[in-house]
Amino acid sequence: MLRLERVEKTYATSAGTVQALAGIDLVTPPGQFLIVRGPSGSGKTTLLSLIGGLATPTAGRVQVAGEDVAAMSPAQRAAFRARTIGFVFQTFHLLPYLDVLENVALAGLPGQRAAARDRARELLARFGLDHRRTHRPGELSTGECQRVAIARALLNQPSLLLADEPTGNLDMDNAAAILDLISQYHQDGGTVVLVTHQDWVSHYGDRVITLQRGMIVHDSGNGLVGRAGMATMKPGGRETLRGCREEPDHG
Ligand SMILES: Nc1ncnc2c1ncn2[C@@H]1O[C@H](COP(=O)(O)OP(=O)(O)OP(=O)(O)O)[C@@H](O)[C@H]1O
Ligand SMILES: [Mg+2]
Repeated sequence: MLRLERVEKTYATSAGTVQALAGIDLVTPPGQFLIVRGPSGSGKTTLLSLIGGLATPTAGRVQVAGEDVAAMSPAQRAAFRARTIGFVFQTFHLLPYLDVLENVALAGLPGQRAAARDRARELLARFGLDHRRTHRPGELSTGECQRVAIARALLNQPSLLLADEPTGNLDMDNAAAILDLISQYHQDGGTVVLVTHQDWVSHYGDRVITLQRGMIVHDSGNGLVGRAGMATMKPGGRETLRGCREEPDHG
């Protein structure tokens, strides 16, 4: 599903260049649930951005489903992203002036507005949000906001889901609910790349890589790991529940 070869990313800043990724080689089969870990600043978000075609590598090659995303024109890349990739972020990125159904349906492909609304309704029902369809994000809890964001990411039935600390702002129960939705997508055949700082979250994946200073310093490999430990793992790292209403402007 993913093939990264000697991928580097440097940012030019007023204080000099920053090397965010310093030579990443990574191959993942379709259907893998890959967890990305590593300290702050190690390059995790940069890696997701390159895989998702939101940024281009300074050197090396990124292939997603056999396609070189960086070689596409901006229009081709946008179309490829819409069809193939779903994104979920730590802070949801919902549009505050649209209701829940509109936020989800907005991700629909051009010319498929009615189908997008039908699918949005179906996903919201499946995610237990039927009764919140006409609410705005500011009227939802944090966990509900993240479920809306996942519904939006899955609207076009992408083959790849990229999630950047999707549970970082949630309490344990809400985080587990989000991970269950992502696991369900994975069990239905989806490929997942999920960034997390939380130990217990890693156990949802079947492969864990750890970044440090833009390099992969540990890789559990392509075998199944972690799941056996899930039942006995005591979830930790409970974080303060921040109300969705208190989030900064998502627009
Ligand atoms: N747009 C940018 N311009 C300049 N430097 C950047 C930019 N984006 C990221 N960086 C730098 O690149 C490095 C990697 O950043 P990245 O956001 O990928 O880290 P991260 O592992 O996601 O960190 P965190 O856990 O804090 O989210 C950091 O040193 C960061 O300061
Ligand atoms: Mg990050």
